[in-house]
Amino acid sequence: MKQTQKVPETFLGVGYTKDRAGLPLEAVRVPVPQPADEQVLIRIAASSLNPLEYKLADLNFMGRTPPVILGLDLAGVVVAVGPGVSDVAVGDAVAAMADLNGDGGWVATGGNGGDGGYALAHRFLTVRKPPSLSFRDAAALPMCFLSAFAGLYRRVQAGDTVYVPGGGGGVGHLAVQMAARALGAGLVISSGSTPQSIAVARQSGAHHVFDYKRDDITAEITKLTDGRGADLVFDSTYSEHSFVETAKAVRQGGSWIVLGVGPGKTTRLVETHSPVDATLAERGAEHVNVNLLRYFSEPATLDGEARAFLQRGMALAMEWAAQGLVVPHIDQTIDSTVEAINAGLQALKAGHGVVGKVAVIVDRDLAYVAQDTPPAML
Ligand SMILES: NC(=O)c1ccc[n+]([C@@H]2O[C@H](COP(=O)([O-])OP(=O)(O)OC[C@H]3O[C@@H](n4cnc5c(N)ncnc54)[C@H](OP(=O)(O)O)[C@@H]3O)[C@@H](O)[C@H]2O)c1
Repeated sequence: MKQTQKVPETFLGVGYTKDRAGLPLEAVRVPVPQPADEQVLIRIAASSLNPLEYKLADLNFMGRTPPVILGLDLAGVVVAVGPGVSDVAVGDAVAAMADLNGDGGWVATGGNGGDGGYALAHRFLTVRKPPSLSFRDAAALPMCFLSAFAGLYRRVQAGDTVYVPGGGGGVGHLAVQMAARALGAGLVISSGSTPQSIAVARQSGAHHVFDYKRDDITAEITKLTDGRGADLVFDSTYSEHSFVETAKAVRQGGSWIVLGVGPGKTTRLVETHSPVDATLAERGAEHVNVNLLRYFSEPATLDGEARAFLQRGMALAMEWAAQGLVVPHIDQTIDSTVEAINAGLQALKAGHGVVGKVAVIVDRDLAYVAQDTPPAML
């Protein structure tokens, strides 16, 4: 293991300490992990909130033995690397995603750094952060960007009509930007239910944004496409209500792409009958499931091709953000305290009050250090 920086033996993380205890998360002192083959140990500057984090606390469905530290989106500085890591080195500023069946880097020190927060990431999920991109913005990208990327990359063709419901959401607003600004879609249609989320979908590049509680969006898409429907629908809302509606908007022979486990299974606990497959069959449309969790819950799926795909996604996240093509909308920036993280996750769980992303400052000195200055405190 290559390591030149002094790293403490433990840190005060934030996570769940009991099986399926749900929120609130708690502060718990844990050992700083050691990087194994092809792993990188990162001192965390910033992270972000994702719905996955309250779901893991609620259901512990990755089968972990608590305590489990959350905060799986990571941006910070490499402090140690395991054997087989050559593309990043100690001292590099990086963005990364921790394994979704692993630990993250939230701390209970309120952004003051304290002992710092530390997390491991695989080499292929770690990428150098461009100097022009802040740690805060870099940390808002990994999970949501990779989710949008897994749905849209190599599927959107130049000129396509793409429908992304929920274009004010964490994944949704990045998907709208990706389709409209990076992948050459001709027409991007989106939706939201509040003035704030509708505004974020518009700012993200959607040409038309409807109110899904008020408008007949399928009829609007039919009009906008001269009766054809959308070439591609990417539904990352995790809402059965949305799935049933958006499946009707896809054209004959088009693609309906869903993030996660898909129709009829949104609760994870009970499977319900869903009409989505029948709707898609009437249209001869393809039903595609993209699910980042699958890579980590079924290790056999994490083969060389999947690793290369995710590594390409991490590289493009940095490249497109630095070019201003796909930029996270940070709705709130919170300090890494148990209270602030719990409040943020509660709001995400309740499904209101959050648009775009909530950034978490884990270590203020590191996060706000001048971009071209080596982090003095390390
Ligand atoms: N398995 C995976 O690979 C994976 C990866 C990442 C995320 N996810 C899951 O994907 C979901 C979305 O994540 P996120 O970070 O984007 O969450 P988020 O920021 O809470 O966004 C949810 C979005 O869904 C929209 N929405 C809710 N009901 C809708 C409906 N009926 N029609 C249209 N839009 C609707 C909301 O719009 P308004 O706010 O305007 O109402 C909001 O924009 C979460 O459940 C998350 O756990 C899964």
